[in-house]
Amino acid sequence: MSKTISATRIDPQARTPTLPAVPVAATTSLQPRRLRQFERDSTNASALAPTTTLITGATGFIGGACAVEALAAGRVDELLFLVRAASAAEGLQRVRQSLLRFAPPGPLLERLSERQIVLGDLADVDGFAADPRLDRVTHVLNCAAVASFGDHPGIWPVNVVGTVAFARRMARDKRLRRFVHIGTAMACGTGMVSPVVEAGLSDAEARHLVPYTESKAEAERQMRTIENLPLVVARPSIVVGHTQLGCKPSTSIFWVFRMAHDLGHWMCDLDETVDVVPVDYCARALLLLLFKPQIANDLYHISAGGGSATFREIEKAMAEARGIPSLGSNFRHISEQDIPSIVPEFKARLGICNRRLVVKAMKLYGGFARLNYQFDNQRLIAEGLAPPPSFPGYIRQCIASTEGLSLLDQMMDDFK
Ligand SMILES: NC(=O)c1ccc[n+]([C@@H]2O[C@H](COP(=O)([O-])OP(=O)(O)OC[C@H]3O[C@@H](n4cnc5c(N)ncnc54)[C@H](OP(=O)(O)O)[C@@H]3O)[C@@H](O)[C@H]2O)c1
Repeated sequence: MSKTISATRIDPQARTPTLPAVPVAATTSLQPRRLRQFERDSTNASALAPTTTLITGATGFIGGACAVEALAAGRVDELLFLVRAASAAEGLQRVRQSLLRFAPPGPLLERLSERQIVLGDLADVDGFAADPRLDRVTHVLNCAAVASFGDHPGIWPVNVVGTVAFARRMARDKRLRRFVHIGTAMACGTGMVSPVVEAGLSDAEARHLVPYTESKAEAERQMRTIENLPLVVARPSIVVGHTQLGCKPSTSIFWVFRMAHDLGHWMCDLDETVDVVPVDYCARALLLLLFKPQIANDLYHISAGGGSATFREIEKAMAEARGIPSLGSNFRHISEQDIPSIVPEFKARLGICNRRLVVKAMKLYGGFARLNYQFDNQRLIAEGLAPPPSFPGYIRQCIASTEGLSLLDQMMDDFK
């Protein structure tokens, strides 16, 4: 069954366009009581009450893009940032530096002040939990996490223990209207049927390729049990580049496609697909989920779904952008066992590189690519957001912005 919600008017100060009426799926039973209460209230005064928005992870790729999107929507004065730094001045400088990757310097960036910086580390929530500014927060966008595919020691303490403690702290405040937490679509683990549907993560025994996705799944499960948390989980698929800026803000994951192209070998068939979204689309989706007064669900994929490109389309777009012939029948689909046999080709094909790191990356990222997942995105589309631009459509910008960078330089954003 579906229902139609009327046109929603966002905070008039926000200068965000009014969203059209769209058919949406019925509210799921997963939805916490507090979120439903907010949906009911949203037609009256509470939706128009002043908002204070706390963004975590604004020094990162997705959090930075979201903060710029919020500034552009006229929300500059209502923002608070949770940042790791030794002083508010350093924290402000870190946030500005991050936002400059996405936007030229300008009056909005200048208007940000030290008063908007909450110094804090998710590994030590007690260290900032008593900050009185948290008591007036109405919206939280939780982008902070240890987003590493390696064995980073912070994965469990930050992504699970700290994140859940932070959510508990924020749930204490009666003013909190929405807490959007960024999970990951890969939290579903291996062995799912594609397209993967937007569903709860009940199976604690699911197999994971890396501790990171397991930590994201566990955080979601524990957050669902927190009383009075108006939780919405947004699970992006694979976030690569920006439709206008290419990889200027971050080279994260794009280098994997470039590496596979240079090698002419990859661990998938060219007709398999990969679910990629650009960071600017991801940020737009997150802000919609954060501020739209009525949303139908408490869990959303931010993904390309059925619009996912095939590796063949991606390869062709890369070849065109680089002005070289498409690999066509020269492409070889290899297995993990074949990797040692191509190591001698690394230098000629990739230039100077760290062989051990390249082998590790091929195994890690090849493992995810082999899952061949598409993540259903119908819920977000039903909320009024257009499907994402296709990855091949902005590959030219990604290639242009990484020209002249060695593979090692490009890998840095993912192996910090
Ligand atoms: N990128 C993707 O393809 C993708 C896909 C699906 C889901 N996600 C999710 O999206 C979110 C953002 O990812 P991203 O790619 O933007 O990662 P990122 O660029 O590595 O940014 C991570 C952010 O988290 C902050 N952070 C890390 N540990 C912290 C701590 N202990 N206390 C406070 N802040 C901390 C970092 O701050 P510092 O600058 O101080 O380190 C940084 O601002 C994560 O939840 C990730 O799981 C990402």
